[in-house]
Amino acid sequence: MARVGAPATVTLALTGASGMPYGVRLLECLLKAGIRVYLLYSQAAQIVAQQEMNLALPGRVREVEDFFAQKFEAADGQLRVFGREEWFAPVASGSNPADAMVICPCSMGTLAAVACGLADNLIERAADVMLKEQRQLILVPRETPFSAIHLENMLRLSRAGAVILPANPGFYHHPARLEDLVDFVVARVLDLLRVEHQLLPRWGDEQPEPEK
Ligand SMILES: Cc1cc2nc3c(=O)[nH]c(=O)nc-3n(C[C@H](O)[C@H](O)[C@H](O)COP(=O)(O)O)c2cc1C
Repeated sequence: MARVGAPATVTLALTGASGMPYGVRLLECLLKAGIRVYLLYSQAAQIVAQQEMNLALPGRVREVEDFFAQKFEAADGQLRVFGREEWFAPVASGSNPADAMVICPCSMGTLAAVACGLADNLIERAADVMLKEQRQLILVPRETPFSAIHLENMLRLSRAGAVILPANPGFYHHPARLEDLVDFVVARVLDLLRVEHQLLPRWGDEQPEPEK
């Protein structure tokens, strides 16, 4: 269920950083919360999806739309997928952007392009629009270690109004499964978007571990 103040529409971009399970889980949670999602993905994201999740994203955007809509039981028209040069997509213009955008996982390449305002493909353009329209833009970068260039790009984006939410799961909730680590990061994104979720107990609501 979406919380008061939750966005009606979110653009989600999957790029070619490691951490595709974060992006796919986020897509699932947004759709289950009843949010309309505009999905964008890069070519490198397709390679990473195959490599990390054994997930063969179909070549055509309409097939990807059907694939995820079926997989996550989206309502008719709730999920729309756009190709890298679909310049007539709503997300390409400041006159019709989504309420928020998340790039998850976010490669250093896309991060650098957004930091420089390149707008050379639909992901970069959609992110550029979010910044210029002062709407919520969340980037979930994954790289280690970070170079000075990565850090400077992140600082630049943060100063321009974006949120940098690194794919750094915590361990204080005692994760037992891989999915718990994924949900940790996805929960933080949903919190920022003000989307209701039950992925994790909230800090302070947890029962402390009994002393041994
Ligand atoms: C399996 C795999 C894992 C990768 N992991 C990362 C990563 O964690 N972070 C990163 O910045 N780039 C990573 N890359 C490299 C990017 O995919 C590459 O720089 C690509 O050009 C990014 O393009 P995009 O931003 O259009 O998706 C990875 C590539 C592959 C194939």
